[in-house]
Amino acid sequence: MLGPVLLAASRSDRMRRLVSRTPLTRPVVDRFVAGDALSGALDAVQALTADGIDVTLDHLGEDITDAAQARANRDAYLALLDALGHKGLGKRAEVSVKLSAFGQSLPGGHDLASAGARRVAEAAAEIGTTVTLDMEDHTTVDSTLAILADLRRDFPSTGAVLQAYLFRTEDDARALAVEGSRVRLVKGAYKEPASVAYQGKDDVDLAYARALGILMAGDGYPMIGSHDPRMIELALQLADKHDRTPDTYEFQMLYGIRDGEQHRLAAEGHRIRAYVPYGADWYGYFMRRLAERPANLAFFLRSFTTR
Ligand code: FDA
Repeated sequence: MLGPVLLAASRSDRMRRLVSRTPLTRPVVDRFVAGDALSGALDAVQALTADGIDVTLDHLGEDITDAAQARANRDAYLALLDALGHKGLGKRAEVSVKLSAFGQSLPGGHDLASAGARRVAEAAAEIGTTVTLDMEDHTTVDSTLAILADLRRDFPSTGAVLQAYLFRTEDDARALAVEGSRVRLVKGAYKEPASVAYQGKDDVDLAYARALGILMAGDGYPMIGSHDPRMIELALQLADKHDRTPDTYEFQMLYGIRDGEQHRLAAEGHRIRAYVPYGADWYGYFMRRLAERPANLAFFLRSFTTR
C-alpha cells in the first residue's frame, strides 16, 4: 500500500524539501548512503574490501535540470575514479552511473549522456576498472541500451542493468547473455504502468527467476542484484546446473542492506559486490529504499520518536 505513495513522493520537490531539511532524517540516511562527500565513499570502499566485499560506487545526482549539472556529475565521477586510482582500488571498485545524472532526460540528452558516460568509461579503463549503467524508468531503457551497445564496442566490460518487472526484459536478457557481457539483474525500483510492467510481487519474482535462468544459461557474466534469499539460492542452483565456476558470476546487494548476508557470502568464497551510493543528492535513492520495505520505513519513523 505505502510503496506507491513513497515512490510518488520520491518525485515530489515539496517532499524532497521537507524530508531533506528534517535533521532527524540524517541518521537513517546514513544507514543507506556513505556520506555526502567522496571521503565517506572511500572509507566505505576500504572497509568493505578489507572484508572481501567488492564495491560499485554511485555518485548520487539523478534529478538535474541543465547541462552544467550534467557536467558537474560527470566530473564528480572523474574525481572519484582518480581517487580510486591513487589508492590502488581499481581492481576492487567499479562505478555505477545513472544516465539521468548525465543529462539523458534533457533536450538532446541522449548524446549528452552518451558523451559523459564515454568520458567516465575511458577514465575507468585507465585505472583498470569499469562502469555499469544503472537502469531507470522504462522510458529510458532504449536510450540506455543503445548507449551501452555503443560503449561496449570500445569498453566491452561496460555493464547493464535489467529490471525483471518489465515485460521486455526476457528478450533483453537473451540479447545480452553473450560472451563478455556483464548484466546486473534486479527486480526494478520505479513506479511503472501496467502496460509495461508486472505489478504483483509474485509475478515480479517469477519474472526474475525466468530472466535469471536465461542469464545463467548464457555466456555472459550475470550479476545477481537482489537481497532475496530465494533468488540467491536459485542462482546457486543454476550455477551448479550450468557448471559455472564462482568467478563467472557475482552477487550484488545495496550498502546497508543484509550486511550479515554480504559477509557470509564473501566468507564462503562467493563473489559479492556492495552498491555504495554517496553524495548530497540522496533523496530519490533514499525514498526508493523506503518504498521497497516497510521495515525500512518503520526504522525511519522510529528515529523521530526515540529521540
Ligand atoms: P525484495 O525487495 O522483493 O525483497 C525480497 C526479500 O529479500 C525479502 O522478503 C527479505 O527476505 C529480503 N530483504 C530485502 N530487503 C531486506 C532488508 N532491508 N533486510 C533484510 N532482508 C531484506 N533498481 C532499478 O530499478 N535500477 C537499478 O539500476 C538498480 N540497481 C540495483 C543495484 C543493486 C546492487 C541492487 C541490490 C538493487 C538495485 N536496484 C535497482 C533495486 C532493485 O530493483 C530492487 O528494488 C531492490 O533490490 C529490492 O528487491 P530485492 O530483489 O532485494 O527483493
